[in-house]
Amino acid sequence: MTQRVVLAYSGGLDTSVAVRWLMEHRDAEVICVAVDVGQAAESGGEDWDRIRARALAAGAVEATVIDARAEMAEDFCMPALVANAKYEGKYPLVSALSRPVIVKHLVAEARKHGATSVAHGCTGKGNDQVRFEVGTRALAPDLNVMAPAREWGLTREDCIEYAAKWDIPLSVTKEKLYSIDENLWGKAIECGVIEDPWNRPPEDVYTMTVPTATEPSEVVIGFEAGLPVSLDGRDLAPEPLIAEMNRRVGSYGFGRLDMVENRRVGIKSRETYECPGALALLLAHSDLEDLTLERDLHHEKLRLEPRWAELVYDGLWFSPLKQALDAFFAESQRHVTGEVRLRLDQGRCWVVGRRSPVSLYDHGLATYDASDTFRHQDAEGFVRLWGLGVATWSAVQEGRGAPSSGSDS
Ligand code: ARG
Repeated sequence: MTQRVVLAYSGGLDTSVAVRWLMEHRDAEVICVAVDVGQAAESGGEDWDRIRARALAAGAVEATVIDARAEMAEDFCMPALVANAKYEGKYPLVSALSRPVIVKHLVAEARKHGATSVAHGCTGKGNDQVRFEVGTRALAPDLNVMAPAREWGLTREDCIEYAAKWDIPLSVTKEKLYSIDENLWGKAIECGVIEDPWNRPPEDVYTMTVPTATEPSEVVIGFEAGLPVSLDGRDLAPEPLIAEMNRRVGSYGFGRLDMVENRRVGIKSRETYECPGALALLLAHSDLEDLTLERDLHHEKLRLEPRWAELVYDGLWFSPLKQALDAFFAESQRHVTGEVRLRLDQGRCWVVGRRSPVSLYDHGLATYDASDTFRHQDAEGFVRLWGLGVATWSAVQEGRGAPSSGSDS
């Protein structure tokens, strides 16, 4: 019996072949959904009309393009910024953030069209299958998930042949050397020569971080309650703000990552990323937290941040622990308001200043000059009691002699 399947469609070879494969092997009526999460921004964005036409040419009964750029920025990149999210301390979760956005829309389209399944074009070796499927099961446990590329066992050459056989138009761009996944938060580049972790990524893998700027410059990022709201005093919504940061910071060649990463499925992979805007915003946001978060709150948040990143990386965007951590982080951001000054020069981006109307930095307490307001006499008793426990331990159990009774002045 014919069934309706909503396929997450990218316009690439695999998802185009998937349309026909689902028709042939699953008796499916395929509805393609392409989600714009800000991919290929530096070249003016994807050509969505062409992608839609290709989906229909491949055999889809319907093809929809959803503009989710603002949603991606507001509901996915912003929480990641608030969480200072970097998987394994480095990777700002680029692909891991876009999959739950896509899942949300796939599920909504499945409901709209009365589909019983959703499908994606991921293979069995990566994280993205995990994110699609676990995300779908969290939002719509009744929907079935199909993963044609995991089942068909076709090589790239087989796919090209299959596409030719069914008159599926291929991308007019030159045969891809790398596997690329891209959105507002950055770009992931895999495969080809960079599969050897010793090989230096050829300069042609980079598109967002091509160093063109010749003079150093500074950018002031304004934050309100943890969220970036302005650049150099100009108010901007999250999406244009991130896009502008990508352009400005990227033009200094800052934002490249080269790492070996642990995938959820047990494979170590060599990954190359470009995330100029994300890495610069993360630098600025965490610096403002240094200035405005009370110590215990800050330390607890620092402990929870890697957990949040790991959950999201592992496909658990829609999960109770992630939701609870979001609530904690949201509460923590109430006073993360102020400005951070970043300097950009020759592949580098670093914080050179920060200020806040609710700064916990107290000049009178911190200074060593005559305006000092710190009560020095309070320190003595505090330090003595702080060390009392170890002094007693040392004297009694380590046999280092009785603790001194007091006046050591
Ligand atoms: N390793 C990264 C991640 O798991 C990037 C994945 C990129 N996906 C792709 N289809 N090229 O988040």
